Amino acid sequence: MAVSVRDVAVAASVSVGTVSNVLNRPEKVAPATVERVQAAIDELGFVRNDAARQLRAGRSRSIGLVVLDVGNPFFADIARGAEARAAEDGMTVLLGNADEQAGREASYLDLFREQRVNGVLVTPVGEDLHVLERLRDSGIPVILVDREAPDGAFGWVAMDDVEGGHLAASHLLDRGRRRLAFVGGPRSIRQVGDRLAGAQRAVDERPDATLEVLDMPALSVLQGRAAGEQLMARPPAERPDAVFAANDLLAVGVLQALALIGDVRVPEDIALIGYDDIDFAAAAVVPLSSIRQPARLIGSSAVDLLLQDLADPDGSHERAIRFRPELVVRESTVSERPHP
Ligand code: RIB
Repeated sequence: MAVSVRDVAVAASVSVGTVSNVLNRPEKVAPATVERVQAAIDELGFVRNDAARQLRAGRSRSIGLVVLDVGNPFFADIARGAEARAAEDGMTVLLGNADEQAGREASYLDLFREQRVNGVLVTPVGEDLHVLERLRDSGIPVILVDREAPDGAFGWVAMDDVEGGHLAASHLLDRGRRRLAFVGGPRSIRQVGDRLAGAQRAVDERPDATLEVLDMPALSVLQGRAAGEQLMARPPAERPDAVFAANDLLAVGVLQALALIGDVRVPEDIALIGYDDIDFAAAAVVPLSSIRQPARLIGSSAVDLLLQDLADPDGSHERAIRFRPELVVRESTVSERPHP
């Protein structure tokens, strides 16, 4: 049973109000009383309930962050960037993992509202933003992360994924590849659809190029491997000569399948590019070319927008930040190995 403020008051023979004053405004209490109450706190092992205190004071030092998939290092890096920036202002970040499920996302948003967090950052699972609108209308500022917001409804920080998809496919085409395959995830995830749209636009600019699409049920290494096995099950002449994976986890899985099949060389037979430039991209057995997203900067920038909203709710401050994609070229598209 946790030790309560009342237990401390009885042990020190003072009122509950005096204990509260010793905890929150010790300068208003006689030193001898402070000493007696502190002795009781130490003896009983009392630990203050910070969340309850913050709730009573009508404020919190916390920020809620719900990410799409905490298993993806991209979102872990977003959280790192957000935490570091929040700490500069004495705030903490409470992290929730939606696991690509709208129901889990909604549960965390409800929890953050009950906790009366200072504000919420969220990488939305789908297109339905009604839960976020209710949260915002309850007085808790919301910033979309890794997603643009419609008509200024929320502040947002994102990357131009259509441009990113175009950059990835153009790199493959510039390397002479013409039979491209896009390995994506659920089309309900906006980032996937935008990257595909960009890739399709790049292919449409080259009359002799084609693009096929493999929609996988999740953006994971496992599903990337399944996609690679599907492609390798075909006769060599029917395989693509390049693969653009919607993120690096899928790309790592595709690379794993190609390596296990054995009769395929990357990039000589099939070039491969991912997206995000997570640490595993450079560390892959064939270092992966990728489209870099500044994940930590995205996270810290989202906190900056939130702090601006808190400081000046009706202000005309910048409420949208769009990052440009950056192509990172490695051995999975440009072989440094001498041609045999
Ligand atoms: O979660 C899906 C993808 O969208 C991540 O890999 C990252 O690229 C995000 O933008």
